[in-house]
Amino acid sequence: MSLRNHFAACGKGLEPALEQELEALGALDVEPRRGGVAFRGDKRLAYTANLWLRSAIRVQEELLETEVRDADDVYAAASTLDWSAWITPDQTLAVSASVRDTPGIRHSGHAALRVKDAVVDRLRARYKRRPSVDTKNPDVRLKLVVQQERMLLYRDLSGTSLHKRGYRPIQVKSPLNETIAAGLLLLTDWDRTSPLVDPMCGSGTFLVEAAWLATDRAPGLGRSFAFEGWLDHDVDLWNELQAEARDRVRPALPFSLTGGDRHAGALALAQKGAHEAGVSHLISFRESDARDLAPREKPSTVVVNPPYGVRIGADEDLDDAWESLGNFLHRQCGGATAWVLSGSKTLTRHLGLRTSRRIPVMNGPIECRWLRYDIRG
Ligand SMILES: C[S@@+](CC[C@H](N)C(=O)[O-])C[C@H]1O[C@@H](n2cnc3c(N)ncnc32)[C@H](O)[C@@H]1O
Repeated sequence: MSLRNHFAACGKGLEPALEQELEALGALDVEPRRGGVAFRGDKRLAYTANLWLRSAIRVQEELLETEVRDADDVYAAASTLDWSAWITPDQTLAVSASVRDTPGIRHSGHAALRVKDAVVDRLRARYKRRPSVDTKNPDVRLKLVVQQERMLLYRDLSGTSLHKRGYRPIQVKSPLNETIAAGLLLLTDWDRTSPLVDPMCGSGTFLVEAAWLATDRAPGLGRSFAFEGWLDHDVDLWNELQAEARDRVRPALPFSLTGGDRHAGALALAQKGAHEAGVSHLISFRESDARDLAPREKPSTVVVNPPYGVRIGADEDLDDAWESLGNFLHRQCGGATAWVLSGSKTLTRHLGLRTSRRIPVMNGPIECRWLRYDIRG
């Protein structure tokens, strides 16, 4: 199988987690960039990356890299590719573009249109028929990136964002995105064999992702991917990789995962999500204020995303929530490492602890810090 360049996108700040994941999957020339990681690999690796990456939002394969000055150059470059290897005229297509600092191209939309024209013209010349455009739900997607005079053309291998694992069908209030939760977990030093607690678990994202990590459950098992729609899709290879992943899932864990929340509605959603994810038997959920939470086993690691007033209503008593968390950490977590996602500098003082690491990460549009606290035994 031939080697190709790829790019996996992730939330800003999580690049080191994604880099570590790609290295572990055997990707070549792994190179972190802002908001993602570039790598080289064959089709097996591209499928594996979609199936196994926990912190990536999307994986794209590079089709072309060249120099361009204007939209005509973009058309000419895209016309050099043999599109009939990837697309049939009966499929629908969408092209998006991002163009920066290229004086010869006024609108990124125009450059995207020129790529579409090139694909359509090549296919029409061969089949006398052409694929149509569907911007909402296309069979295949292309992404054009032009920066100054450098043009990169990618095909999308993922489709729906990889955070859609399939265990959270309904819209939840201020949940943590699954890829961010997984990326944050990967940035901790949790060994995946010792008790972990989230005392303010909300819809339970950290716990489900932790359960999938510890049981070696591929996050992409059970969902579909855009690469299944490309003409060169290798069904046998894909079936083999899925079967391998299914065989790897561990049914049980010899330690506990515990989630607490004082909001019964949030816990009901967390339980439903855990059930959908097939891990409800591995997580013990408690309706409790953090200050009263008493996990069955002493945690080695605490991960938590307390409210910090940006997404959750201002009516909540934020000071009290953080005091309650501080109380839990001091009372129940001696000797543990706590990782707290904070979007507020002032609220963290309620914990009464000193950070030993501060990692800047974006939680959607919110600039946050992933804070590590080593709690004295
Ligand atoms: C930002 S949300 C957590 C979101 C969660 N990470 C998820 O993936 O859905 C904060 C949660 O803290 C809970 N909370 C606030 N104060 C609390 C307290 N004193 N004790 C326990 N839970 C609390 C809220 O009910 C809310 O579910």
